[in-house]
Amino acid sequence: MDGLGIRFGGNHAVRDVSAALPAGQITAIIGPNGAGKSTFFNLISGFYVPTSGRIRFQGEDITRLKTHQVVGRGIARTFQTTTIYKELSVLDGVMIGHRVRTRAGLLDALLRTGRERRDEEGSRDGAMAALARVGLADQAARPAGALTQEGQKRVGIAMALASNPKLLLLDEPAAGMNPEETVRLMALIRDLVSGGLTVALVEHKMSLVMGLADHILVLHHGQKIAQGTPAQVSRDPAVIEAYLGGHAHGGQMGQATAPAAPTGAPHA
Ligand SMILES: Nc1ncnc2c1ncn2[C@@H]1O[C@H](COP(=O)(O)OP(=O)(O)OP(=O)(O)O)[C@@H](O)[C@H]1O
Ligand SMILES: [Mg+2]
Repeated sequence: MDGLGIRFGGNHAVRDVSAALPAGQITAIIGPNGAGKSTFFNLISGFYVPTSGRIRFQGEDITRLKTHQVVGRGIARTFQTTTIYKELSVLDGVMIGHRVRTRAGLLDALLRTGRERRDEEGSRDGAMAALARVGLADQAARPAGALTQEGQKRVGIAMALASNPKLLLLDEPAAGMNPEETVRLMALIRDLVSGGLTVALVEHKMSLVMGLADHILVLHHGQKIAQGTPAQVSRDPAVIEAYLGGHAHGGQMGQATAPAAPTGAPHA
């Protein structure tokens, strides 16, 4: 990303952010509520068109590509609020989720055209493979709504994996998870990365961020205020000020303290 920014009226939600997501590694994007983290992902994944700056992915300028084109280039994402189709089977949900993200329009995705029917088998195989990667192969036939919260979050990740991404963007994957679920999620993310995936994640849970990230980018009021290893970032005065200063919304990091206190970070 080079000088990336987007304005909504007078509000610079993301402002002049230059950063890289190193291949094969885990980058965490942190910052107080409203810092612009989800907007940053919306820019990379083509949901928003930036008002300034450029995005390059594997040498190609993808700044103005549409979401399905970005997915086609190998970038997939999960959403801060997972919408899964609770009445459908887990497998059908992943297949439909995948189709909606890779087609130009919803109608195109829902209409079973001839091409769609021919694609059906391949898409089923792809969805099953994605479910296997998140440990849900044996749950494929169950209604998605019958899964635990953790299971449903994994379905959201499988939907993203079904497009076979090179870069996976996870927006608050551990939100609502208890400590054991969080540790299992961290193991899953590590597995995906050792299989060759590049991961960027937004997360408020500092135990996860500190235990998992190779690099951290810190956003505050839309701007990058720090970057570095977890150790570097957690003792950066600008970061501590951002979290403890007047703009922090108390306790919203999942801990009431600054990231300087990664106590209990699970390294399982
Ligand atoms: N579509 C939009 N229209 C107007 N303003 C927007 C839009 N999307 C985001 N914003 C604004 O951009 C700013 C950053 O929001 P964003 O959701 O990116 O924050 P965040 O860092 O993800 O916060 P949180 O930790 O609470 O999820 C906020 O001021 C928000 O109101
Ligand atoms: Mg957000």
